[in-house]
Amino acid sequence: MDARNVERVYDRYARFYDRVFGGVFEAGRVNAHRRLAPRPQERILEVGVGTGLSLAGYPRGCRIVGIDVSEGMLRLADRQVRSRRLGNVALLRMDAQSMGFADDSFDSVVAAYVMTVIPDYRRALDEMARVCRPGGRLLILNHFTNGNRLVRAFERAVSPLCERLGWRSDLAVSDVLADGPFELTSEVRMGPLGMWHLLECVNLKRGAQRRAA
Ligand SMILES: C[S@@+](CC[C@H](N)C(=O)[O-])C[C@H]1O[C@@H](n2cnc3c(N)ncnc32)[C@H](O)[C@@H]1O
Repeated sequence: MDARNVERVYDRYARFYDRVFGGVFEAGRVNAHRRLAPRPQERILEVGVGTGLSLAGYPRGCRIVGIDVSEGMLRLADRQVRSRRLGNVALLRMDAQSMGFADDSFDSVVAAYVMTVIPDYRRALDEMARVCRPGGRLLILNHFTNGNRLVRAFERAVSPLCERLGWRSDLAVSDVLADGPFELTSEVRMGPLGMWHLLECVNLKRGAQRRAA
C-alpha cells in the first residue's frame, strides 16, 4: 500500500462508505466517544476523519480538527459539518504521516479505523505524539490480530487481498505501540471474536506524568 493508492481507494469508496461501513463501525465509534469523554474546550484531532460519521458525537464545546487524505471522503464530511451546523469542527486535507500542525497542538488524538490503512503507521504515530501535548491522550479504534492461532493464520492469508482493498489485516497492537511514547492505559475488545480493539493511551513524551489508575 502506498499513500497515493490509499487516497485513490477511499476516493472511490466515498460514494458508498456510509451505507457499507456506517452501521458496521458505529458501535465502536460510540464506545470511543464514551471513553474519550472530553472536557469542555478540549482540542481534539481526528485522524482519518473519513465522511465525518463521528463528528456530531463530540461535545460542541470541544474544538475538533479532522484530517484525511481523501478529497472524496472529506467532501462528505464537509456536508455533515454544514447540515449539522458543527461550527466547532475544521476539516483539512492532510497526510497523518506528515502533519502541518505545531508541536503540542492537541489535548487528544482519535484514530478510528485508520491505523491499518496508513502505509507507514509508525511514522503517523510519531506525528500523533508530536502534535499531542505531553500527558494528552490517544484513542485508537481498530481491528488488530487475534491471539488465536487459527484466526491469525487466516488474517495473514487474507492480508494481500485486504491490502488491495485498502487496509492491512495482520497488524498487532504491539506493532503499533512498540517503542513509542504512548503508553497503553486501557484496552477494550468488541465485536465478533473481540476483533475490534479500543485502545486508550497516554502520551509520555518529555517525561509527562503517568495517569493515576
Ligand atoms: C476506514 S476509513 C475510517 C473513516 C472514519 N474514521 C470512520 O470511523 O468511519 C479510513 C480513513 O482514513 C483515511 N486515511 C488513510 N490514510 C491516511 C493518511 N495517511 N492520512 C490521513 N487519512 C488517511 C482514508 O482516506 C479514510 O477516509
